[in-house]
Amino acid sequence: MEELLEELLEECRHYTREGKLADYIPELTKGNLDDLGVYVVTSDGKRYRAGDYKKQFTIQSIVKPILLLQALMDNGIDYVRSRVGVEATGKPFDAINMTDQSLLSENINPMVNMGAIAMCSLIKGDTYEQRVQRVLELTRVLAGNPEIDIDHDVYLSEKRTGNKNRALGYLLKSYGMIQDEDVEGLVDCYFQACSIKVTSKDLANIGYVLASRGRLPGNEDRVFPSKYATYVNAILTTCGMYDGSGDFAVKVGLPAKSGVGGGIMAVAPTRMGIGIFSPGLDEKGNSVAGIKVLEKLSKRMYLSIF
Ligand code: DON
Repeated sequence: MEELLEELLEECRHYTREGKLADYIPELTKGNLDDLGVYVVTSDGKRYRAGDYKKQFTIQSIVKPILLLQALMDNGIDYVRSRVGVEATGKPFDAINMTDQSLLSENINPMVNMGAIAMCSLIKGDTYEQRVQRVLELTRVLAGNPEIDIDHDVYLSEKRTGNKNRALGYLLKSYGMIQDEDVEGLVDCYFQACSIKVTSKDLANIGYVLASRGRLPGNEDRVFPSKYATYVNAILTTCGMYDGSGDFAVKVGLPAKSGVGGGIMAVAPTRMGIGIFSPGLDEKGNSVAGIKVLEKLSKRMYLSIF
């Protein structure tokens, strides 16, 4: 298996330079386009890796399934579902024009920015700082890595430039989709969550927990009920790659989430968690080489769920 991963990285290496680093968050331009790493954790507890699997990068949108999990753990499915929809938007991650009609919670889902900001409003905590700490702690537990922390430079960089996300927060407020009085504090909670620093190993571990319906590697106890994995994996399948989700479903066929830091977390239900890192992005904000590696891995190992 490790040989296969090495082989796939070599086959896909030339794609790393076909993508571009995200530059709308200035700090992300410090990334290295040549980085390419993969990590796999299988249901029999084995671990396989190749390339730059130890490199750290910010989780960005891959925190969205974790925000959703935390919101589910705090409120249950019925309440979360009543506040935010589950339909694929077919739009970019930061879209404002979700619908031709008046904006409703049914028009968004937890994988697009507006839905993820709404998840931050459902997470429990006396202060926004407490909510951030709870999300950070859940990320550490899912990844089995107590050292995971926030990249303050990336956080401050996004805080300085993230006016579109502020606009999305105020749009949620103006349409009565969130109750928060402090929209700035809410969006700040989202910025901090996106700035959590991980490796492809961390992403593979998190993917493994979703693949094993709440179980940590080597542990029979569940971190969350199995039905939450069904909920999260379903939305990852229909909108985890935004307006690239249909193409990804046809080519890879796995629940997955991308981030503009260059990470992709993929979930092969009952079989494995996969973490990939390559920061060159396509125009949809998804890792170009990362998708290629997943496409080849899925074909070689018959991973597609379809
Ligand atoms: O909100 C943003 O724009 C970033 N913090 C996260 C966006 C992102 O990762 C989109 N995914 N590919």
